[in-house]
Amino acid sequence: MRVNVVTMFPEWFDGPLSISIVARAIEDGALVVELVDLREHGLGRHRQLDDSPFGGGPGMVMMIEPLAAALEPLKDTHRVLFTPSGEPMSQETLDRWAETNEVTFVSGRYEGVDQRVIDNFIDEEVSLGDYVLAGGEVAAAAAIEGIARLLPGVVGNPESTEKESFRDGLLEEPVYTRPADFEGWTVPEVLLSGDHGRIEEWRSQQRVERTRQRRPDLLRNRKDPDT
Ligand code: ADE
Repeated sequence: MRVNVVTMFPEWFDGPLSISIVARAIEDGALVVELVDLREHGLGRHRQLDDSPFGGGPGMVMMIEPLAAALEPLKDTHRVLFTPSGEPMSQETLDRWAETNEVTFVSGRYEGVDQRVIDNFIDEEVSLGDYVLAGGEVAAAAAIEGIARLLPGVVGNPESTEKESFRDGLLEEPVYTRPADFEGWTVPEVLLSGDHGRIEEWRSQQRVERTRQRRPDLLRNRKDPDT
């Protein structure tokens, strides 16, 4: 799969692309990430990318020309703009992208992007959550990592991407490993019992209880109430 990233800060991605699962996906050839430096399409001697908003007001707006130049060659791909005004990114969003051959992520900066860019060059606007970051780079990196671990052959154990949080609409149960007793802090007895029926029942109860306490919205929206 190929991911194009249009950004003012290609060097920002050096870390996220060189570590752990994303680095492995790239090494294995399962994932190709193409960084498009928006600055190369900047206007004039100063390679200008932003200007003040028509109608006045604070902040700067990303101009249409540099983004049009960067996005025109990518018009046959699915183009996503990361912005706090977008729809929330979810596991379903990542599943959908991971099933395609190519996606283009645009990291917005400043107070916004000229609406004509969005109207003419963007297929989908997506937000990482209800908070404001300085730009879309963190969201693009989050999406790349979420996609990388879904690509065939990238995670060793396919079960581990199937059973986790959000797959069955519930949060994960707590997990423990050795030692069974750390300075008096013990592990729930059921997990040491060897009784797989009881263990599964306990895990299932924990998932439902955690979800009820922390994310009641997930229980209400759940698609498969039998799991
Ligand atoms: N850019 C700034 N804040 C953002 C957010 N919450 N999600 C996606 N892109 C952003």
